[in-house]
Amino acid sequence: MDFDTIVNLSKSRGFVFPSSEIYGGLRSAYDYGPLGAALLRNVKEQWWRSMVKLRDDIVGIDSAIIQSPQVWEASGHLASFTDPLVECTNCNARHRLDKLEDQDQCPTCGKRGTFAAAKDFNLMFQTNMGPVATAENRVYLRPETAQGIFINFENVRRTSRMKLPFGIAQVGKSFRNEITPGQFVFRTREFEQMEMEFFVRPEEADEWFQYWVKERHSWYLDLGMTDENLRLREHESEELAHYAAGTFDVEFLFPWGWDELEGIANRTDFDLKQHTEHSGKDLRYFDAEANERFFPFVIEPAAGATRTTFAFLIDAYSDEDVSGETRTVLKLDHRLAPVKVAVLPLSKKPDLVEVTQRVAASLRERYDIEVDVTQSIGKRYRRQDEIGTPYCVTIDFDTLDDQQVTVRDRDSMAQDRVAIDQLDRYLAERLKV
Ligand code: GAP
Repeated sequence: MDFDTIVNLSKSRGFVFPSSEIYGGLRSAYDYGPLGAALLRNVKEQWWRSMVKLRDDIVGIDSAIIQSPQVWEASGHLASFTDPLVECTNCNARHRLDKLEDQDQCPTCGKRGTFAAAKDFNLMFQTNMGPVATAENRVYLRPETAQGIFINFENVRRTSRMKLPFGIAQVGKSFRNEITPGQFVFRTREFEQMEMEFFVRPEEADEWFQYWVKERHSWYLDLGMTDENLRLREHESEELAHYAAGTFDVEFLFPWGWDELEGIANRTDFDLKQHTEHSGKDLRYFDAEANERFFPFVIEPAAGATRTTFAFLIDAYSDEDVSGETRTVLKLDHRLAPVKVAVLPLSKKPDLVEVTQRVAASLRERYDIEVDVTQSIGKRYRRQDEIGTPYCVTIDFDTLDDQQVTVRDRDSMAQDRVAIDQLDRYLAERLKV
């Protein structure tokens, strides 16, 4: 499967649209259509379920996007959240130097030796708070959700009565003024992250680091991502972020090669120390039993929600040969599929529509469903395969006599005849949601 195929499917089936498309697109952000919004929501829900809901050592928060500029001074983002920018003196194109295959050749005009000296370009998005735009009221859109967690460390510890080791999780939008956004939703200037900061005793940091690398790798596999398309890669020391003592990336085999889905970093006590120094508030942890006060270390699994959603879409895509015809099917895990059950009446005749509505109403409470009455049944099956719907329930003319429907399985295409009053049980046994 090539890159264009998945981009075209995303647009034609209503997963993702370029933001401001009617004005020519912004090339920085994307809008998620009905199916894309559902898929993205399911990815985030699965992350939240495994990180917060199923654990008693992690709690979740939702902090503000706009924070005090001092947060970014303390975190080091204002000084060092930069990428190396080069500008071609021949065609004026701007590139991120560390992402160029040949650092001496402009990929836009093909000329060599035309780059001026690289500059450190800060990725923070700036705006002003209040009615007048001055340097004093300059604020920034957060470039990561993590800092919202660090600055609330003491609030959360105190109010949730958490004891080490414990984590604070957050899902939300982040903004980076990327030099070269691209590869569809892979790198955008507005995106969503799923981050968790796990606070531990310093001497236990290595152990927890290994633990979270394994846990996070397993999360993708458990949600059906193909093992061969996933790998863990340890950062070389010169690659490490300014706060990290060690990092593993979970990488996915995108159509253009291996690239990052998530980073799991040992952030040491960098952030809590920095915020203590800059705010004057003591963010050390007090261990009452040992009667000691210290800065915990932090293990941080930081994933991109939008990027991960894109990877699940790519991984699930398959073209199959069915009796000489190509069938496109998204083999999404049931938990991620935007629509779980499609209800398809064979015709628009009123008595079939009436049964359809009754069946749909009975399923709607429990599952995300779609009723589709357009086109031939073959075309409707094709569409449901393309959006990854695990089960189609077809209501035909026999249904009126025998009160049975045909249930078609997305992956095997096998069809079963099931009594309407048994449908709920039949689906509950098969749908892993
Ligand atoms: N708090 C640590 C942190 O933000 P990061 O590696 O810069 O670490 C974490 O970002 C994840 O956020 C990345 O692995 C990626 O999935 C996602 N991400 C980062 N920049 C992105 C962008 N411009 N567009 C889409 N996703 C992005």
